[in-house]
Amino acid sequence: MNIVLFGFMASGKSTIAKILSKKLKMEFVEMDDLIEQETGITISKIFTEKGEQYFRTMEREVVKGLASRDNIIISTGGGVVLNKDNLDDFKKNGVTISLMVSPEIVLKRTVDTNHRPLLDVGDKLKEITNLLNKRKEHYEQADYIIDTDDLSPEEAAHKIMKNLKEHRTPNT
Ligand code: S3P
Repeated sequence: MNIVLFGFMASGKSTIAKILSKKLKMEFVEMDDLIEQETGITISKIFTEKGEQYFRTMEREVVKGLASRDNIIISTGGGVVLNKDNLDDFKKNGVTISLMVSPEIVLKRTVDTNHRPLLDVGDKLKEITNLLNKRKEHYEQADYIIDTDDLSPEEAAHKIMKNLKEHRTPNT
């Protein structure tokens, strides 16, 4: 069984996945890193030179590969849930968890970064709010939804571990 973390950009997926990986002694995989390795260029360059559709195709291929593996913790890219096939594939062999975060916190965490092409716009808060609104219903398809605004990464990881325990022993 894999553990798959969904969530908007800067929702804490990688940080929390790394904590879980240590605690559960499971291998951690970062989807965006795999896409960069496969293409040999950065995510930003993929978007500017080849376009978002190309990125989504690459992303889909990486999902297929990962969903057929076992016992790994996957930190996904924030838009992976937009394709229902990705969600379905991950659910076949994994517990899916969405990390929810407010637009204001995403803004705070991304204000000084420039490696996220979708947030490379004039009015960042407006774009974050817009994308989050569009994606909310997709994130809500996960098995578990965690509101992370008031949680440290350690606390969020702790909450996820509690969910995982219940998931494995539903009748106790
Ligand atoms: C994206 C999120 C990014 C990356 C790409 C597209 C998105 O990953 O996959 O820039 O559509 O939300 P992170 O969520 O790890 O920043």
